[in-house]
Amino acid sequence: MDITGNTVFIPGATRGIGLALATRLQAAGNTVIIGGRSAELLARLQTQYGFDTVRIDTADAGSIRGAAAEVIAAHPDVNVLIAMAGIMRIEDWRGDGFLSDAEQMVTTNLLGPIRLIAAFVEASCAAAPTRRSSPSRAGWRTPRCA
Ligand SMILES: NC(=O)c1ccc[n+]([C@@H]2O[C@H](COP(=O)([O-])OP(=O)(O)OC[C@H]3O[C@@H](n4cnc5c(N)ncnc54)[C@H](OP(=O)(O)O)[C@@H]3O)[C@@H](O)[C@H]2O)c1
Repeated sequence: MDITGNTVFIPGATRGIGLALATRLQAAGNTVIIGGRSAELLARLQTQYGFDTVRIDTADAGSIRGAAAEVIAAHPDVNVLIAMAGIMRIEDWRGDGFLSDAEQMVTTNLLGPIRLIAAFVEASCAAAPTRRSSPSRAGWRTPRCA
């Protein structure tokens, strides 16, 4: 993929790898929109770096659909999605919370990116039903809708 001139949405960029990617991609000449759960953190990062920001909880299907629609409405040219939101819990089969922790990791780390891709394809095609462009090997990019 070209690493400049894109409009990139990164849910899970309020810290860690996602934030590092956001700052590097912005410095490389991309427009970057970051997503996360904390409005306070998002506001601080918007002030600090000038990112556009969107509230999103990637463990919540409704929040994902809402955020996808919000991003595409504000940035119809969005063409790259980097699903960075994730959680890491200690996996101890003997602990009481094992099943709950495992389910939360699957919901956030596996189902989250799948729901994100589905929501972006759906919202993008609804916004521009006749759009035609080539899929990319780098993950979700502007989809072929017609
Ligand atoms: N760091 C490593 O060595 C490593 C190695 C292998 C894999 N990974 C994976 O790579 C991903 C990122 O790692 P990291 O080290 O950068 O993690 P991190 O520093 O803990 O950052 C995680 C990011 O995901 C966001 N997030 C978590 N749950 C979310 C949710 N439900 N909705 C929206 N945002 C959510 C957090 O934002 P808020 O909490 O503010 O919402 C934060 O911005 C994770 O999936 C991790 O498991 C990391």
